[in-house]
Amino acid sequence: MRKPIIAANWKMYKTTEEAVSFIKELAPKIPEEGDEVYLAVPFTFIAPSVEAAKGSRIKIGAQNMNDASEGAFTGEIAASMLIDAGAQFVILGHSERRRLFHEDNLFINRKVKKALLEGIQPLLCIGESKEEREAGAEKEVIYRQLVDSLDGVTLEQMERLVIAYEPVWAIGTGTSASYEQAEEMHAYCRQCIKDMWNPELSEKCRILYGGSVKPENATQLMEQPNIDGLLVGSASLNVETFHQIIHYSYIGNIS
Ligand code: PGA
Repeated sequence: MRKPIIAANWKMYKTTEEAVSFIKELAPKIPEEGDEVYLAVPFTFIAPSVEAAKGSRIKIGAQNMNDASEGAFTGEIAASMLIDAGAQFVILGHSERRRLFHEDNLFINRKVKKALLEGIQPLLCIGESKEEREAGAEKEVIYRQLVDSLDGVTLEQMERLVIAYEPVWAIGTGTSASYEQAEEMHAYCRQCIKDMWNPELSEKCRILYGGSVKPENATQLMEQPNIDGLLVGSASLNVETFHQIIHYSYIGNIS
């Protein structure tokens, strides 16, 4: 019922030329049917990436945006500009934005609502830090992030939104959450959605896992009943590795 998404987050890596050749190499390898494939690329290569992905099932998106329509916000980018460049989705609330650029749940909430209003799909990231997990507060943190970041989002809008659970301690560390830890947190997120909206939406909502996803752990992560896809950082930069993740995820899903 929930169509899986395998998403790449390229962060601040690659050149336009590298992006285009990656997409041209990946596109013919993607099976006609199967999981959705998302690529979140740097702003300057959204348009060339969209062009390179034409005719394939790859969706191109961005990694951040501002909540304002326009204005004197030096260095920021508006939802309408991303759409104009051809982006179909945008990552919001990534832990690197929260931690390094001090984005809080209220700001992220305004961005989520703006993205939905403008018609670009938000991919909302949530996740606890190492200290929060060590203090046993991971569920409390996730609950607050969901309640605050999704405040005022309607049921109809929620159907267009994707969530990514990314424990901060697993991002870029080479050590992913265990399958049990990830599944437990995904089941908890689903429970929160059920309580905040309704059981039907909680069954429909896609929740991706992110944090040191590799070809070696993709199948087992995807076998967990509440994991509906993967958000891949480092391992998405290499076309062969990312293709293997897509492949193993799909196998994992149908076996
Ligand atoms: P990672 O990054 O796969 O390199 O851990 C994931 C992310 O930041 O989304």
